[in-house]
Amino acid sequence: MENTVTIIDNRTGKQYTFTDTHDTIRAMDLRNIKVAPDDFGMMSYDPAFMNTASCESRITFIDGDKGILRYRGYDIADLAERCSFPQVAYLVIHGELPDAEQEREWLAALRIHMGIFENIKKFMEGFRYDAHPMGMLVSTLAALSTFYPDSRHVRDHETQMHCIRRIIGKIPIIAAYGYRHSKGLDYISPEPKLGYAENFMHMLWDRSPLEHLKHPVLARALDVLFILHIDHEQNCSTNAMRAVGSSEADPFLSIAGAAAALAGPLHGGANEEVLKMLDEIGSIDNIPAFIQGVKEGHHKLMGFGHRVYKNYDPRARIIKRTAEEVFEVTGRNKKIDLAMELERIALADEYFVSRKLYPNVDFYSGIIYEAMGLEAKMFTVLFAIPRAVGWLAQWQELINDPAQKIARPRQIYTGYERRKLPDSYTYGAPSEESLAYTR
Ligand code: SDX
Repeated sequence: MENTVTIIDNRTGKQYTFTDTHDTIRAMDLRNIKVAPDDFGMMSYDPAFMNTASCESRITFIDGDKGILRYRGYDIADLAERCSFPQVAYLVIHGELPDAEQEREWLAALRIHMGIFENIKKFMEGFRYDAHPMGMLVSTLAALSTFYPDSRHVRDHETQMHCIRRIIGKIPIIAAYGYRHSKGLDYISPEPKLGYAENFMHMLWDRSPLEHLKHPVLARALDVLFILHIDHEQNCSTNAMRAVGSSEADPFLSIAGAAAALAGPLHGGANEEVLKMLDEIGSIDNIPAFIQGVKEGHHKLMGFGHRVYKNYDPRARIIKRTAEEVFEVTGRNKKIDLAMELERIALADEYFVSRKLYPNVDFYSGIIYEAMGLEAKMFTVLFAIPRAVGWLAQWQELINDPAQKIARPRQIYTGYERRKLPDSYTYGAPSEESLAYTR
């Protein structure tokens, strides 16, 4: 049977046949469905893009029903177990795992960019002491655009790669500086001889009472967590990266938009919300009442549910395993027991089972970060650091895709028809009376 679908327009009796590639039809082909020849033609309506492919991509594959996640064809569990974050970052950006020479080059290139201009440090000092680290990260990523005007040549391959290396090298520096600023501490310069995750921990905790948290087991746990968070198809923040990037805004401005989207509590901000939720529940005895509150719509079970996964998020499974290794070093974070009991109860409850709600990547990650001495307001920043790799790979794929152009969705207008402006509106300078008015 040929790969086509046929639609009959019952308004006209006309038949339209569409080619079906990858089990999709091109939305623009719907415009051929008209009643009168000069009609605009039919559109599809899909709020939140629940069933709309915005691009073709070769980066990440998810099978939500089977709980499968692969970067460039490699299964996430294999990558997390046998690779380092820089190796997987190279894979996601370049499409292939690095050989020894390519890995040396890559690490050297990232090290060159592990530094930021003194002006940027001063820029960050302008934030209030209690500024949220995600607000500092989003703003500073955008500010970097003003230091690298060459980055606006987005279609030049070398410029793309230069910006990609710059941002992957600099984002942990900015994140660590934001953390130190929020603690009222001096910035710690990066130590390029350290690994990517180790260097980040060095910049957080060197010369601090928390120095014990630079333990190699914790550094590897962070490396694994970074791998798990690199990319995830066309999620909300990646969609933002592609939308902003499609206007040919430079990658610093585009990634600031992506990081802003990630900060939302329904997206990357969920890991921070999970800890608040566990603190609010407090003890296992309070779980039934909390679950009842979820069913009555008073609150969500944060860290549960997913647009794509209708099965266990494979990343949550790996994070849960990593938690035990972290607790060997830090001591058991009691919240893991509460979280596991919450999961056990929820997975047996019809409300969650019927809606296919399972733990997602955010359910356990915050518990590990807290055990590592990090505060909840840093959790989404820890999501953004590795996700910068995925955003940049997706951005580069978009820019180099001849099928893409500036993103500009349509709408269904449901507002007023033309209305006449009331005669009482004739422009004039504000009256003395209105200027003097105070509430
Ligand atoms: C991330 O997209 C990605 O890939 C994201 C991410 C990535 O790596 O980039 O995986 C990272 O963002 C993970 C998700 C983190 N967010 C949370 O944990 C917040 C809590 N989760 C929900 O807000 C929700 O599950 C979403 C936002 C994640 C998904 O929302 P959808 O796909 O729009 O699903 P929905 O809101 O339409 O829910 C379907 C039903 C609804 O019930 P009914 O109206 O049908 O009765 O399930 C219910 C929802 O009320 N539901 C929940 C729930 N999630 C969905 N009910 C209680 N608690 C929840 N967490």
